[in-house]
Amino acid sequence: MNSKFLAIIGLQWGDEGKGKVIDALKGEYEVGIRFQGGANAGHTIFREKEKIILHQIPSAILCQEKEALISCGCVLDFSALDREIEELKKRNIEIEGRLFIDERTPLVFDFHKEEDILEEEKSRKNKIGTTMRGIGPAYRDLIVRKAVKVGDFKDLDIAYKKFKDLWEFASEIRGARYGRPMKPYKDLFDKNLELFKKLRGFLADGILYLKKKEEEGKRMLFEGAQGAMLDVLLGTYPYVTSSHTVSGSISLSTGIAPWKIKRIIGVSKCYTTRVGEGPFPTEESSEIGELLREKGQEFGATTGRPRRCGWLDLPLLRYAIRITGATEIIMTKLDVLSGIEKIKVCTEYEIDGEKFKFPPPLAYELYKVKPIYKEFEGFELKEKDENLMKFLGFVEKEIGIKITHISTTKGEELIKLV
Ligand code: IMP
Ligand code: MG
Repeated sequence: MNSKFLAIIGLQWGDEGKGKVIDALKGEYEVGIRFQGGANAGHTIFREKEKIILHQIPSAILCQEKEALISCGCVLDFSALDREIEELKKRNIEIEGRLFIDERTPLVFDFHKEEDILEEEKSRKNKIGTTMRGIGPAYRDLIVRKAVKVGDFKDLDIAYKKFKDLWEFASEIRGARYGRPMKPYKDLFDKNLELFKKLRGFLADGILYLKKKEEEGKRMLFEGAQGAMLDVLLGTYPYVTSSHTVSGSISLSTGIAPWKIKRIIGVSKCYTTRVGEGPFPTEESSEIGELLREKGQEFGATTGRPRRCGWLDLPLLRYAIRITGATEIIMTKLDVLSGIEKIKVCTEYEIDGEKFKFPPPLAYELYKVKPIYKEFEGFELKEKDENLMKFLGFVEKEIGIKITHISTTKGEELIKLV
C-alpha cells in the first residue's frame, strides 16, 4: 500500500529486527522519526559488513539525503547523544542540517540512570531488568511535571531554576528510598550546559518541522523502538518500558493525525526473544533455547545481555497486531529456524482447562498459561521451499494479515512474498 506516512512497529518484546527493516525500506521515505523511548533502544544495522548500532538517532541518519527527527515522545540523554554523534562523525556521516531534535523533548540526567540502578538493586526479586538508561525515572519526572525539556536550556535562568527544582526532587527520593546522596547539582548542570551548546544547532519545533515537511510532500517513516509487548499501558506491565511503543503513540508526539498513517508494518521474528524479566510463555530454557540464542546471536544490542529465547507465540502476536493496528507483517531471522528438524508454534493458551486465542490482560496471569503447540517439519531457506511456505501460510491464516516480506540475520535485502 502506498502511504506518505509509514510506521515500523515491533510486535514482540523488542529486537525484532526493526533497524534492518527500516534500512531495507530506505527507498520509501525522506524523513525518519523516532517517537518514543531513549538510549535504551539499540538498532543494529549492517553496512558493508560493518555493524552500526544506533540508540537515539533515527536510522535515516545513515542515508545522506534523508533527515532525522527525535520527537518529543522520546527522552533524551545529552551525553549519550554526544557519543552517538561522535561515532557517526568517525564514519564520515555528515549530520549538520539533517538531524533535528524537538525542543519539547524531556531530558535524562545522570541521576536518572543512577536511580534506575539503585531501584533494581533494591527491588532485586521484583526487578524489571531495565537497560539502566534512566528511562523509567525520566518518564516519571515528565508525568509528575518536573522534567527539564531540551529547549529550556535556551534560557539559562529558566534552565537553572528548573534543573535545580528537579535535582531537589530527585535528591529527596534518593535520600529517603536509597539513603544515598546525589552528586552536587552545579557540576551536573554545567556538564549538561556544555553538551547543550554543542547540540544547540539541532534544536527545532518538531511539530512545525513535520508540518512543513508534510506540506512539501515528503514521505515519513516513524521508527518504533522496543516492541508492543513492552508498551507501558498495553504490554506485560510492570515488565515493560516506560513509554508507549504502539503506533497510537506516533500522533501524540508528532502532530501527525492518526488517520493519516495508513501503512503500519509490524515486525516479528519467526521465534520469540525477550531481555529482562517478566512472563514469557513460550520460553525454552533447554537446548533449543540455547540453539536459537547461538544461531540468532541473541545478545542485547545496548547491554550485551543474553536474550531469553523461545518459539513463536501466536496469542501474543494476535494481540500485538490488534493494539498496533499493523496492516502487514515483515517476519525476520528465518535463517535461524532454517535447518532445525522440528519447529513449534504456539497457537493457543490453556488456562484452567480452557483454550484462549489471546493473552490474559495481566502479567501474573500470563505466567500461568500453558502454551499449546503445533509442530512443523523443518524448512530450508530456498525459494518456494514447501515446508517454509506451509509454516508462513499457517501463521498468516492464524493472524489475519499478510506476511509481505521475510528476511535473514545478515542479508540486507528483504525477500518479497506478495
Ligand atoms: P527500560 O526501557 O530500560 O526501562 O527497560 C524496561 C524493559 O524493557 C526491560 O525488560 C528491558 O530489557 C526492555 N527493553 C528496553 N529497551 C529495549 C530494547 O530496545 N530492546 C529490547 N528490550 C528492551
Ligand atoms: Mg534492539
